[in-house]
Amino acid sequence: MNGMSNMPTTLQAPQPVHQLQPFKSLSNDELTARIRAVRKKFGPKLLILGHHYQQDEVIALADLRGDSYGLSQNAANSSQCRYIAFCGVHFMAETADILANRPGKLAERNGERVAVVLPDLAAGCSMADMAGIDQIEDAWDQLGDVLDTEDITPVTYINSAASLKAFVGCHGGIVCTSSNAEAALRWAFARTSRVMFFPDQHLGRNTALGMGITLDQMPIWDPYADALGGSSEEQLRQSKVILWKGHCSVHQMFRPEHVRMFREKYPDIKILVHPECPREVFELADESGSTSKIIKTVESSPPGTKWAIGTELHLVNRLKQEHPEQEIHFLSPVVCMCATMYRIDLAHLCWSLENLAAGAPVNVIKVDEDTARWALVALERMLEVK
Ligand code: 13P
Ligand code: SF4
Repeated sequence: MNGMSNMPTTLQAPQPVHQLQPFKSLSNDELTARIRAVRKKFGPKLLILGHHYQQDEVIALADLRGDSYGLSQNAANSSQCRYIAFCGVHFMAETADILANRPGKLAERNGERVAVVLPDLAAGCSMADMAGIDQIEDAWDQLGDVLDTEDITPVTYINSAASLKAFVGCHGGIVCTSSNAEAALRWAFARTSRVMFFPDQHLGRNTALGMGITLDQMPIWDPYADALGGSSEEQLRQSKVILWKGHCSVHQMFRPEHVRMFREKYPDIKILVHPECPREVFELADESGSTSKIIKTVESSPPGTKWAIGTELHLVNRLKQEHPEQEIHFLSPVVCMCATMYRIDLAHLCWSLENLAAGAPVNVIKVDEDTARWALVALERMLEVK
């Protein structure tokens, strides 16, 4: 379990039959038609999954769309499919590979693997990159000098490399998503008196505060500090949740002054945010939740409801279009979009699907066996708690 890479392993794939460049000059109509043609050819053997932050033209082609939890469930339950094109980011594709190819599923398919394709390998997550496995292992060793690590449950947000999920699985911990973070923390506290939460400090803090844990019980672990993550031994001894110093560069752009500005202008407005937002924003919000919960909250509200929504721009713009009966605003004067989700465009999707159809899959994400085995332990716990 030592020295695992933070990056997914890609299969030794055959040389692509089609080069990417020519796809970039095709019109969206042509790309869409060609993607539909491949989709038709494969039938139920192909599953195109789309995260809610994807661009409209990509999401329109997804067989299933969802938040991280829902998409993991889709990958875990897939039965007929042999190929998943994951329109999302690489930790999601890794998770799909682990769940779709877990031992029980492989046995059902007589050992045949599902190939998970990430249309652009550069579609990463800057938050996931803020916690490397070497840094986590080093933090755990240092914690062991001050605390009993047998009494700490590591909890990783699903926005993390497979190697971190494996670390967590191997150390009695659990993966959480934005839709089950509280249940995951309860699961952890039923086992140990302390939690180490990574990589998103905001999701960890917002969730723990809601459970009555106080700020002074949540020291930050800064992996770049000289020692003990920048906390004192006393702070660590008092801790209930040790928070990794990571964040989402998109959600950190939402500020309390944006909330105040909207409330002043529209006294009856409701503020709806993702729990990756900083505490100062989260605490001022009326409602919060995963991307799917944000969608459901809007869908179930009466016409005329006014919203200012703090999450990725593409999702908020889509909600605006789909719900003209409500008044929806983006909770920031500046553009907050996920640049890595945005890398998945029609050109990359079409290029990767046509190579798949030509028998030369590109960008196949395959997590190595040892990492996948331990990560699965933590992911199965995640799927059990809701
Ligand atoms: P959800 O699980 O809520 O879709 O969040 C994923 C994500 O990356 C949010 O930034
Ligand atoms: Fe990662 Fe933030 Fe993009 Fe989500 S929105 S994928 S957390 S960078």
